[in-house]
Amino acid sequence: MACCAAVVAVVLAAAVAGAPVEGLGVNWGTLATRRLPPKVMAQLLKDNGFKKVKIFDADETTMMGLAGTGIETMIAVPNDMLAAVAADYRRAKEWVKMNVTKYDYHGGVNIKFVAIGNEPFLTAYNGTYDNVTVPALKNIQRALDEAGHGSAIKATVPVNADVYDSPASNPVPSAGKFRDDVAAVITDMVRFLNHSGAPFSVNIYPFLSLYGNDNFPIDYAFFDGAPPNPVIDNGVNYTNVFDANFDTLVSALDKIGFGSMPVVIGEVGWPTDGDKHATVPYAERFYNGLLKRLAARQGTPLRPHASIEVYLFGLMDEDAKSVAPGNFERHWGIFTFDGRPKFPLDLRGNGRPVMPAGARGVQYLPRRWCVLSPNASTNATAVEENVAYACSRADCTPLGYACSCGALDAAGNASYAFNAYYQAQGQVPLACDFQGLALVTDKDVSRPPCNFTVQVVAESRATAVTTNTTAAESMAPDAAAARLTAAVMAFLLVLVSA
Ligand SMILES: *[C@@H]1O[C@H](CO)[C@@H](O)[C@H](O)[C@H]1NC(C)=O
Ligand SMILES: *[C@@H]1O[C@H](CO)[C@@H](O)[C@H](O)[C@H]1NC(C)=O
Ligand SMILES: *[C@@H]1O[C@H](CO)[C@@H](O)[C@H](O)[C@H]1NC(C)=O
Ligand SMILES: *[C@@H]1O[C@H](CO)[C@@H](O)[C@H](O)[C@H]1NC(C)=O
Ligand SMILES: *[C@@H]1O[C@H](CO)[C@@H](O)[C@H](O)[C@H]1NC(C)=O
Ligand SMILES: *[C@@H]1O[C@H](CO)[C@@H](O)[C@H](O)[C@H]1NC(C)=O
Ligand SMILES: *[C@@H]1O[C@H](CO)[C@@H](O)[C@H](O)[C@H]1NC(C)=O
Ligand SMILES: *[C@@H]1O[C@H](CO)[C@@H](O)[C@H](O)[C@H]1NC(C)=O
Ligand SMILES: *[C@@H]1O[C@H](CO)[C@@H](O)[C@H](O)[C@H]1NC(C)=O
Ligand SMILES: *[C@@H]1O[C@H](CO)[C@@H](O)[C@H](O)[C@H]1NC(C)=O
Repeated sequence: MACCAAVVAVVLAAAVAGAPVEGLGVNWGTLATRRLPPKVMAQLLKDNGFKKVKIFDADETTMMGLAGTGIETMIAVPNDMLAAVAADYRRAKEWVKMNVTKYDYHGGVNIKFVAIGNEPFLTAYNGTYDNVTVPALKNIQRALDEAGHGSAIKATVPVNADVYDSPASNPVPSAGKFRDDVAAVITDMVRFLNHSGAPFSVNIYPFLSLYGNDNFPIDYAFFDGAPPNPVIDNGVNYTNVFDANFDTLVSALDKIGFGSMPVVIGEVGWPTDGDKHATVPYAERFYNGLLKRLAARQGTPLRPHASIEVYLFGLMDEDAKSVAPGNFERHWGIFTFDGRPKFPLDLRGNGRPVMPAGARGVQYLPRRWCVLSPNASTNATAVEENVAYACSRADCTPLGYACSCGALDAAGNASYAFNAYYQAQGQVPLACDFQGLALVTDKDVSRPPCNFTVQVVAESRATAVTTNTTAAESMAPDAAAARLTAAVMAFLLVLVSA
């Protein structure tokens, strides 16, 4: 009790003093049908005081947006390049030359980390990257060292929390250990990270505990609840899944001899649409609880008072992400696709009801929408076929049960789908035909909370090509596609038995 009272006192003191959240970063993903100009995005980061950002590649357009901002950046070698970089040191050198050294000039990009793959040890990848990830890590760090970047730039591997768990027989954080099939590889990786002075990087998603399990005690996903059955571990009451998850990792690291290795949270966040638990009120509750305790440097029971470096997931909604893990996948942004803040979020962690600063200078397409023609609704089959076409190429996830547009009737659904496609195609007239079933209107039929969007003016041609490529990639299984597996974590076991 004494210890916990002290922790509370620290929380209050820091909140009153208004300590900013140190080490707060955000993930900037770009799997959208239409992207805001990188300069607008970089300004959005600056206006909100983000000092750190994590991206999923080293895309030149994105990098040019970050150039000169001073924002500390984590760039990435994608999973599909790991084998090549692992097999051939010259390939690693080339990667570093073209993606790191190239931006090392006055007014360039302040690169701090190179992520080796994205969740490469995910169970759903069936071991595809198990043998190449650590060799790729070693090659990239060596190339960074040889190019003279080694003391400033560290390579690390962002893993999903599914690489560790607690045994079913003893489901408590202190029993945490690395998954048997990757334990040897991860031990090798951790030894190398320690040697190079790089942190361990992990993605933690309390939302997925809830998504995967209707019996999950909802309060346990947040930081301000009093769940009926806290997990009691060596006299410590765990009352939220974030602490339990983090400390399971600390225990797993301890078991292989690296209990004090620094840990960075590469992704953490809460989506706002696409599922009954993906709502603005829950996201607001989650983030504000998280930020308050980060600002207070509360740490976790095994690492009390630790200042944890955290990258929120994510910056913006991405309407071209794979929905294999669930329809919520396109709605992780703390900002909408066009850079408007979704809910009050005090990034300084003081818990005040302040809105983040929105994107400035966003240019929109004309205020017009594509809807189902009133004359067309008689042939239901034809409408369904065209809706299916539109939804296979644009984002219809808000139409699902308990989602923002879930209350529309069949005609409303069709209009939503047609408009989503028309907007994604930049409002070209041909994109609002649908075999004569659709027409363009200047009447906004949005009914809160359902928004019939008007898209943004997309970037230059060069970027349009990139968008096409990334949209194609997003149709393939990616890390996100398998995140769902990661929801099945030790902590469910913890709770079931608690
Ligand atoms: C730079 O990085 C990107 C993303 O990781 C990759 O696609 C590209 O091939 C890299 N360039 C070189 C020369 O390795
Ligand atoms: C992993 O294995 C499962 C079952 O065999 C299969 O359905 C899935 O496509 C595999 N995934 C990958 C990335 O190889
Ligand atoms: C990784 O290496 C092990 C041991 O050499 C081997 O058994 C396994 O098949 C390899 N996995 C892949 C995906 O290549
Ligand atoms: C980790 O690295 C530090 C600094 O290089 C070193 O002193 C320490 O012994 C290493 N820890 C282990 C367990 O190897
Ligand atoms: C921990 O939880 C148990 C069971 O709910 C309760 O009896 C105990 O008072 C709690 N301890 C602390 C320190 O909150
Ligand atoms: C709808 O049908 C009526 C009568 O057939 C026709 O006059 C009108 O132009 C049609 N409207 C549209 C938008 O096609
Ligand atoms: C309705 O549309 C379907 C598919 O386009 C078409 O095959 C069918 O003939 C149409 N039915 C009528 C009555 O027009
Ligand atoms: C609207 O579309 C959604 C998603 O495709 C579907 O689940 C729902 O049943 C549709 N509603 C109606 C009234 O057709
Ligand atoms: C709907 O989106 C548009 C941008 O497409 C925005 O201007 C408008 O404020 C949004 N409406 C609501 C209710 O969020
Ligand atoms: C998109 O990419 C595909 C395959 O790379 C290509 O065939 C198609 O023409 C591209 N579309 C546009 C609009 O650039």
